[in-house]
Amino acid sequence: MNLHNVEFIKSAADARGLLGDDVPQIVFSGKSNVGKSSVINKLLNRKNIARVSSKPGKTVHINYFLIDDAAYFVDLPGYGYAKVAKSEQARWSALMEIYFSAADHIALGIMIVDARHAPTRDDITMAKWFKATCCPLVIVANKIDKVKNSEKDQNLALILKTLDLPPETNIIAFSAEKGTNKELLLQSIYDAVERWVELDV
Ligand code: GTP
Ligand code: MG
Repeated sequence: MNLHNVEFIKSAADARGLLGDDVPQIVFSGKSNVGKSSVINKLLNRKNIARVSSKPGKTVHINYFLIDDAAYFVDLPGYGYAKVAKSEQARWSALMEIYFSAADHIALGIMIVDARHAPTRDDITMAKWFKATCCPLVIVANKIDKVKNSEKDQNLALILKTLDLPPETNIIAFSAEKGTNKELLLQSIYDAVERWVELDV
């Protein structure tokens, strides 16, 4: 994988649209406006392959990108945007339930949280979903550029504690704006794809 070939495959709005082929999936999840699309764009060195908006609640589908014919990057719809209608929230929950019920395609879960704050109740729910799949998990603490150096360690520890994850969990202080620790996250992705391919043969 060298990330040279990135192809948008599809947007899925319901169960019929989900992909269930043999390609390992790297799943990006996080609350609305946490910077999911920005993280994906940064990793792929693209300006706007995953749409970035300053208005939250824009990504309402599951978006699949095929990377070097080797893996999908899966951009899950953001959660926790208060102004979204109840019916949309229900649609989101149903979609997540279906997606995570067939989790054997997930090579790596990448859960993006805000480095500045304790995780929200929705973040905790999302962490439970990932834990239930037993897939490898990386926590990305995004917007670390907005956190004082002196507060970084305690913020990262609080994130793991609130999500009820063991202290040895892979957590990466990240900035989609500055590119901080981009190589570290990419390495976690390459390792996960390699592991998945080894297990699959
Ligand atoms: P939805 O798809 O709407 O749920 O949002 P998203 O999670 O994809 O967030 P998006 O990438 O659109 O970014 C939301 C806002 O946060 C934008 O204004 C970004 O420029 C900003 N942002 C994203 N990552 C960072 C970061 O690491 N640091 C800073 N300072 N701002 C960031
Ligand atoms: Mg987005």
